[in-house]
Amino acid sequence: MPVDITEDMIIRNVVENYPQTAQVFQAHGLPCAACHIGASESVSQGARTHSLPVDALLKDLNHAANGEPLEGVKPRTKMPTGKGIPLQMAGDTKPKIRNIIAIMSGKGGVGKSLVTGLIAIALQRSGLKVGVLDGDITGPSIEQMFGVFGAPIKNETGIEALVTQHGIKIVSMNMFLPNRSDPVVWRGPMISSAIKQFYNDVDWGNLDYLLIDLPPGTSDAPMTVMQSLPLDGVVIVSSPQMLATTIVKKAIGMVNTLKGRIVGIVENMAFLRLPNGDRMEPFGSSNGADLVAMTSAPLLAQLPIDPAIASLCDRGRIEEYDSEEFTALAENFIKAVTIVR
Ligand SMILES: Nc1ncnc2c1ncn2[C@@H]1O[C@H](COP(=O)(O)OP(=O)(O)OP(=O)(O)O)[C@@H](O)[C@H]1O
Ligand SMILES: [Mg+2]
Repeated sequence: MPVDITEDMIIRNVVENYPQTAQVFQAHGLPCAACHIGASESVSQGARTHSLPVDALLKDLNHAANGEPLEGVKPRTKMPTGKGIPLQMAGDTKPKIRNIIAIMSGKGGVGKSLVTGLIAIALQRSGLKVGVLDGDITGPSIEQMFGVFGAPIKNETGIEALVTQHGIKIVSMNMFLPNRSDPVVWRGPMISSAIKQFYNDVDWGNLDYLLIDLPPGTSDAPMTVMQSLPLDGVVIVSSPQMLATTIVKKAIGMVNTLKGRIVGIVENMAFLRLPNGDRMEPFGSSNGADLVAMTSAPLLAQLPIDPAIASLCDRGRIEEYDSEEFTALAENFIKAVTIVR
């Protein structure tokens, strides 16, 4: 009996039952297969969200599921690690950073630093070498979240990064201040220069991923990171509040203008889990589908407002965090960065 995929089937189920269809979804510019939305959206809803003709999609899905050649669409091939550069070539002793991903929002306080921390932990737990460059020069928060503090030490190859309990390398402006609470009163060019120095002068060693936590806004720090560093992708963080979403759209516009690649969207503070198990949405209902439609990038996760997160961040113990939504973020991020879009 030939397989018959219909438009009312849930995207995630289609991909789980017929893994070869993942490439078809990608090839049609519908990344929901690696997306949080795909867990609940049907093929026709996904096609509608991305303004795609459902008939052509269904035809290719059925061809792929039945092992027949695809007609119009060439599936994109996978790229296991960003630029695909081997960590070290024979005779080349210069350390390599394989993938650089910036975490950005436009809006302040939506959880960029938290998402940076969580993605770092997800990658480290899957056995990869990870560094975090705290690109928020005037309001750094990464070292507090990971609970590692210290002054810079210089070795023969550069400035040594701080290393967290689980081996993530971090560099933050606070390391360079006599007192951690001292303000950094700098204009844009100094901020840009500090970010470039963190990238160039720190002894990162070999890294699979360098994550860059960006400050809010669309000015100096994001511009420097996007124009001066070999960036592989950007993760956009938003919250359901319409005001946040509107500002986040400016950041998306900036990434598009500078020809960056959006790897995925994370919707933070999406809901609150009540003691009776109900979900409450204090900031309103999700705008994730809107952002997915705007970027064609997957919604990697919807994170709840979780007092455990705030408490672990304050105590420098974010590496202990775990939750169902964190697992979804980890799995979807890794899927999203291993597919060429
Ligand atoms: N889902 C969440 N549940 C509970 N607390 C959270 C959550 N997300 C973030 N927080 C807390 O909210 C505060 C702001 O988060 P975070 O610093 O990650 O935001 P940000 O976007 O990086 O802010 P900024 O724009 O200042 O850089 C932090 O104290 C963090 O611990
Ligand atoms: Mg921050």
